[in-house]
Amino acid sequence: MMVAERVKLVVPSKIRELSERASKIENVISLGIGEPDFDTPVHIKEAAKKALDHGNTHYTENQGMFKVRKAISERYANLFSCDVHPQNVLLTAGAYEAVYLAFMALLNKGDEVLIPDPTFLCYENDAYMSESVPVRFPLFEEDSFRPSQDEILERITQKTRMLVLNYPSNPTGAVLEKQDYKMISDICEDHNLYLLADDTYEDIVFDGYKPECFLNHYEKTIITNSLSKNYAMTGWRVGFVVTEKEMLTPMLRIHQYAVACLNTPALEGAYTALTSSQQCVSDMVKEYERRRNLIVNGLNNLPNISCINPKGTFYCFANITETGMTSREFSDFILDNAKVVVVPGDAFGDRGEGFVRCSFATDYKKIEEGLERMKKALESI
Ligand SMILES: Cc1ncc(COP(=O)(O)O)c(C=O)c1O
Repeated sequence: MMVAERVKLVVPSKIRELSERASKIENVISLGIGEPDFDTPVHIKEAAKKALDHGNTHYTENQGMFKVRKAISERYANLFSCDVHPQNVLLTAGAYEAVYLAFMALLNKGDEVLIPDPTFLCYENDAYMSESVPVRFPLFEEDSFRPSQDEILERITQKTRMLVLNYPSNPTGAVLEKQDYKMISDICEDHNLYLLADDTYEDIVFDGYKPECFLNHYEKTIITNSLSKNYAMTGWRVGFVVTEKEMLTPMLRIHQYAVACLNTPALEGAYTALTSSQQCVSDMVKEYERRRNLIVNGLNNLPNISCINPKGTFYCFANITETGMTSREFSDFILDNAKVVVVPGDAFGDRGEGFVRCSFATDYKKIEEGLERMKKALESI
């Protein structure tokens, strides 16, 4: 069978492999989950149902339903005092599509893209699909997995076109500090790079942390974002891009033929999510924070495991090097002996070796039991 060359480099997700293996074992506790365990709030579901009942079941504008784009521009004004117009917003099928469009619309064959290591899996694969070249730069635990200026500068060449960041970060839970925004913007400005900031977990932050927005720092920023995680709407497939017209127009050109527009009832739900009380988001974040405290404390009490405190997302990235096992051996050991799923860190890049990602998007009691089982298994070695 003939397959396009660009697809051959795209690797199947290592997380899926593990979930499939785990699904064959009974009574498993999964700390491998990458999505909220909460149901979508009722008022959002009601809005989508109403849309169906009222016959709102047709195409919308390619760029996305105007009132949703307007609600997003108001969100940026309220949260970041950022002057975003609805024409600078493109609605996409989740942040996945948003990121894909940025790669496909803005990069040429052979262009280099700086991508953190470890990080979420899609950026490297989108680079392959766009025939650009992923250049990974390491993030270190001792820097709380924040980007290092030297590591980035060292890798910039004449061919570098884009820098990708994802904070709060999947898989590390790290966030940026104030000085990082300026450092990154200065690098991008000096080297005329696009900055792709994937802010998918922006609302899920703890300890009073408040993220900033790169749109206030650098003109050639492309924000990708989503309603998946903050409103527990992963299956609705509503995400968006916020950027200047010169970047948005080529992205829209691909979107209009690949996707055309989003699902209309889902957009009615998204509109309600964005324009109603945000209490549902605060309630979920409060519960994630309670679980974060439980899991980080529990992991640090396990033999030969340490874990820094994530300031955002629902993931923590535990250091398992002292166990003497590789990430993969560790996750296999824990699945076989404790029936607990954790994701080997190398799924997120070579620099993830020595770590495992533990998700706390799962019930408090299950996390407690999972920790107990892991303790028993590790103490029996
Ligand atoms: C960092 C990051 N970006 C983007 C996505 C894609 O999210 P969605 O397409 O559901 O908006 C995810 C999903 O796990 C993610 O972790």
